[in-house]
Amino acid sequence: MAIPERSARRAVVVVLAITIATTLIYMTVLAASKPTWVPASSQTVPAGYLHEQQHAFNATDNIINNSTDPWECTCYSYDSDEPLAEKPDSKADAGGAKDPIIVPESFGDPPAELMSKINKNFVEGRVLLIATANYGMRDYTYNWIESLKKTGVDKFLVFCLDDKLYKHMVNAGYEENAATIPASWLDLDVAAGFEDYFSPKYRIITHAKTLVVQRLLYLDVTVFFSDVDIVFLRPRMIEFVKTYMDIRPETHVIFQQEGLDTRQVNSGFYLIKPEYDMKRMLAQTIYLQDSTEGLTQQGAMNRALDDMVKDIRSSSVVLLDVMFFPNGFAYFDNNLSKSRGVEPYILHANFRVAGDKKKELVNLGMWYLDEKWLKKVDAQVEQSWQEQVDTITPGNSS
Ligand SMILES: *[C@@H]1O[C@H](CO)[C@@H](O)[C@H](O)[C@H]1NC(C)=O
Ligand SMILES: *[C@@H]1O[C@H](CO)[C@@H](O)[C@H](O)[C@H]1NC(C)=O
Ligand SMILES: *[C@@H]1O[C@H](CO)[C@@H](O)[C@H](O)[C@H]1NC(C)=O
Ligand SMILES: *[C@@H]1O[C@H](CO)[C@@H](O)[C@H](O)[C@H]1NC(C)=O
Repeated sequence: MAIPERSARRAVVVVLAITIATTLIYMTVLAASKPTWVPASSQTVPAGYLHEQQHAFNATDNIINNSTDPWECTCYSYDSDEPLAEKPDSKADAGGAKDPIIVPESFGDPPAELMSKINKNFVEGRVLLIATANYGMRDYTYNWIESLKKTGVDKFLVFCLDDKLYKHMVNAGYEENAATIPASWLDLDVAAGFEDYFSPKYRIITHAKTLVVQRLLYLDVTVFFSDVDIVFLRPRMIEFVKTYMDIRPETHVIFQQEGLDTRQVNSGFYLIKPEYDMKRMLAQTIYLQDSTEGLTQQGAMNRALDDMVKDIRSSSVVLLDVMFFPNGFAYFDNNLSKSRGVEPYILHANFRVAGDKKKELVNLGMWYLDEKWLKKVDAQVEQSWQEQVDTITPGNSS
């Protein structure tokens, strides 16, 4: 029995030797035929688009002025032996800003029903995904919700700017994900009807956007704000952005970019932490919008951001990559993500108004809304809404 055993052992040794030899030869051939790194030139993306569009979005004309304070100035560069200036304490600095801003200490408690909906919809920790919308924007709102469902997001809260949308969402089965805005949070009446960019009504709607986020920060909530003309395209997007915030403690807000211009943020998609400088930025946004004729909420927020530190090492403001988080200008007009083979996390269908907005989404297969279903809910709501209006409007009974 000893002889076959020995030959078997010998066979194993031979097979092993052959295997090792072939592996070594294969690896040598592989190494010779292909460099282990990809030359940079074959991956380079022409960046001309970054220069050409630099001035396209200065709707607020907010080019940083010739400030002597390096912490307020994007022109700051460190090229001497002098020690770096100390980062000013944002709280101590508050009184020295251009605008007479009062940052509220606190607000009263919201109604218990709203508080319970907020508590039920936290995504992780105290992160709350919110949107604001009115009745006229319900189709976009439901399309947004469908995109959330497709990417595994089932917790969110829509702040309804009018009672009719709230009623609609309740009828549609989204009572836990819909809330009306307490009257004390708003002092403006918002009319129904989809609001086009820059119209006066649009301004009121966007004003409400700031007020809601502001109140939530005072409830110690980290707010993920999203416009409803956005579609979520990839799972775990919120986690991705939140991680981005968590790995750098200085980061207090992360914005989507507007256009291709890194000097403008889009105020329709951002994650914001309940920190003092953020409360201050929102207070200033509200002040600027109230005191400047024709300034949009986005314009006001960009101006408020102008007063903040933008040094890359200490800034609390961070921008999302425009390829992965494209706006309409990047995606529709420049085909940025697709032409570079990037699969975006979201798409913001802005830079299109009225029917064109929806058309773009339909063409891309990102219009997930079941129109028949919507019509059915519409009919239910219209009927009960009319009855309600008839009973409360005097003179209609005869
Ligand atoms: C943006 O600002 C620059 C510099 O102030 C100006 O030259 C340019 O015409 C502006 N562009 C638009 C579209 O307003
Ligand atoms: C820039 O500063 C000059 C002089 O201080 C002032 O006249 C001008 O209005 C400022 N521009 C902006 C955009 O703040
Ligand atoms: C900026 O301010 C400095 C000092 O006041 C001045 O010398 C310089 O010419 C200014 N630059 C511009 C572009 O206005
Ligand atoms: C965008 O780029 C992709 C990939 O290069 C291409 O297939 C597609 O036709 C482009 N779309 C438009 C609208 O140019």
